[in-house]
Amino acid sequence: MSAMAAFFAAAQGAFVVFSVFHFFVQKREAVYTDILIQNGTVVNHTGHEKADVLISGGRIKAVGKSLAAADAKVIDAMGCFVFPGMIDTHTHFDLDTGSAVTADDFITGTKAALLGGTTTVLDFATQERDGSLKDALRTWHEKAQGSSCNYGFHMAIARWDAETEAELPDMTAAGVTSYKLYMVYDALKVDDGAIYAALRAAKKEGALIGVHCENWDVLLRRIGEVQASGITGPEGHPLSRPAAVEAEAVARLMRIAELAEAPVSVVHLSTGEGLLEARRARERGQKVFLESCPQYLLLTDEAYKAEDGEKYVMSPPLRKAEDQAALWEALAGGEIDFIGTDHCSFTMAQKREFRSDFKKIPNGGAGVQHRLQLLYTYGVETGRITPEQLTELLSHGAARHFGMDDRGVIAPGMAADLVVYDPLPESVITDTNTAHNTDNSPFAGLALKGEVKHVILNGEHAVENGRLILSGSGRYVHRTASGCCK
Ligand code: URP
Ligand code: ZN
Ligand code: ZN
Repeated sequence: MSAMAAFFAAAQGAFVVFSVFHFFVQKREAVYTDILIQNGTVVNHTGHEKADVLISGGRIKAVGKSLAAADAKVIDAMGCFVFPGMIDTHTHFDLDTGSAVTADDFITGTKAALLGGTTTVLDFATQERDGSLKDALRTWHEKAQGSSCNYGFHMAIARWDAETEAELPDMTAAGVTSYKLYMVYDALKVDDGAIYAALRAAKKEGALIGVHCENWDVLLRRIGEVQASGITGPEGHPLSRPAAVEAEAVARLMRIAELAEAPVSVVHLSTGEGLLEARRARERGQKVFLESCPQYLLLTDEAYKAEDGEKYVMSPPLRKAEDQAALWEALAGGEIDFIGTDHCSFTMAQKREFRSDFKKIPNGGAGVQHRLQLLYTYGVETGRITPEQLTELLSHGAARHFGMDDRGVIAPGMAADLVVYDPLPESVITDTNTAHNTDNSPFAGLALKGEVKHVILNGEHAVENGRLILSGSGRYVHRTASGCCK
């Protein structure tokens, strides 16, 4: 192909991506009123200060003492923290697993997110085995229409081949700069060679791959053994997937990434032993990024013995107290880079149907609304982490690692996504007092300290005194190369 023909082919490809992107990203014109948040404690990952925040035209205009603005809507944040809008690195809205469809779609899931102070979610656009990445992206843009918080997509690759590889530049052009590969699930699993090749290709794109680390072949054998021993209910789930099932997979992934000479991330890390394997790779000089989730910090596998044990069936499973301790220590020590929820909600009816055959219970639980309150209560209030670390783990770390350069920090010029958090109110999560479209929460029974009072989304007041006053205004976040790869 001549240089000119190559240029036109590339331009045409870019146009197709642009058109697909534009067709689905319809913009609602925002009606901006200047907003002045007064008297709060502004928390960034680098420090905190008593300051006002002035917002104008969707951006943060000023941060400082005694700011004034004649026509601004004033929000009194006295006694409250003002955090950057929280970013959830891991949600599954409107996901069809083949045997069940999640209870939350983008409409319900993003409202719950916003009420909980999450202004951006990164959901997993999932490729069909016989489909393209572009198909998946188009489908996910359709699903996300009407979202109430901002959203971006990781692309879950179900088929690694030359065709998929050739699509990576189109994905970058469309603002997708991170991927997930699964070592598990029949419809999604890719082999080690595919992981190696995908890591090399993603590195060239400046994209980060996160991997679901469990040894599929071994856990399938163990499911058979556990069931043959007569254990068929939810308590069999953690027995079939003990810590070593994750740790072996993390160790293998670390070596594959070492050979590929590429950065890599472990999604929903749940065990102390998996952490040790990642730590070893870091000690070898590898770039490794770690995500964990509130359920692995706060719940244990004792939950599977409960009457509603099926509620807690998720993969990886809930772990032991010593795993929790190791993960909290890693959080405090800065070894974990971001916290996502892995929100993947199902109703009790969906879960109960398979109570007597744990391998068929839909995997996943709700959590997108409570990440900030849980990490504040059990992290900051207990002194395990500082408010700055909370900000890093729930907002800035995600922005930095996933190419959202104008989010995650409260500073002039940044996108005006902000949360006013009142640390005093006390409440308890129940199965039904949430905004999730479910009748259950894995966190039911946990006490909370503090609540989200106000949320500013793209410069507009979206949650006022705990009530959603703006819905359907979420925007697609077009991301740049991952900070991990720059
Ligand atoms: O059980 C889970 N986590 N379901 C969601 C899919 C995944 O593996 O993240
Ligand atoms: Zn996963
Ligand atoms: Zn997940």
